[in-house]
Amino acid sequence: MARKKFIAGNWKMNTSLDEARALAKGLVDIAGKITDVDIAVCPPYTNLLAVGEIIKGSSIKLGAQDVHWEAKGAYTGKISCAMLKSVGVTYVIIGHSEQRSYFNETDETVNKKTKAALAAGLLPIVCVGETLAERKAGKLTEVVGRQVKGAFAGIPVSDALKCTIAYEPVWAIGTGEVATPQQANEAHQFIRSVLVSVYDKTTADSMRIQYGGSMKPDNAKDLLALSDVDGGLIGGAALKAGDFLGIIKPV
Ligand code: PGA
Repeated sequence: MARKKFIAGNWKMNTSLDEARALAKGLVDIAGKITDVDIAVCPPYTNLLAVGEIIKGSSIKLGAQDVHWEAKGAYTGKISCAMLKSVGVTYVIIGHSEQRSYFNETDETVNKKTKAALAAGLLPIVCVGETLAERKAGKLTEVVGRQVKGAFAGIPVSDALKCTIAYEPVWAIGTGEVATPQQANEAHQFIRSVLVSVYDKTTADSMRIQYGGSMKPDNAKDLLALSDVDGGLIGGAALKAGDFLGIIKPV
């Protein structure tokens, strides 16, 4: 089954309002009419509205970097799904390894956030991935299998089909270390096999799995050519419009 490639930029804690506006304008100019690849940008919360206004009418969609599962109330510092919807957000990254390692994200909170996002009509990008120590200890399948099963616990097929999974080996994020095409494809195939066990083959074959971790214009082509790699979640290289385009349209 043909899965349309999906490239998302995760701007992380970068960009002032002016920088975000300039980056968004640059992206609209060079990538705003591309329709054979799905494209999203995920700026910090403070820049969602401004970036949303700039990309409006282009083929680039708006994403957020996290969300809280509760609907409203006394949760200082948190942002709800309805708040994201109200500023035009389509996608939301959930369970990024930086959330897992610095901010106590667990498989349980990933599951709660994914359910809340789906209920609100947001499209989750669920991140999974092993650390270097886990890979060296031969625990990739144990860790990533647990993360995938945990994230999708109790989520029906119809909702799972709205989700993207981002496989991001923690040792490759922001380090310049990139998974070899073989390592990436093996991990993606493993994730798809977990989805077959949780759902069924048709569902597993329909869900997109992005690779993330030091993806750049010069390695994107080899990674995106792999049968089970359906796109990328891009950090550092998403902060320059030209680099991001070089990943969307690798030459
Ligand atoms: P990177 O980040 O491309 O800078 O490695 C990817 C990510 O964390 O989503």
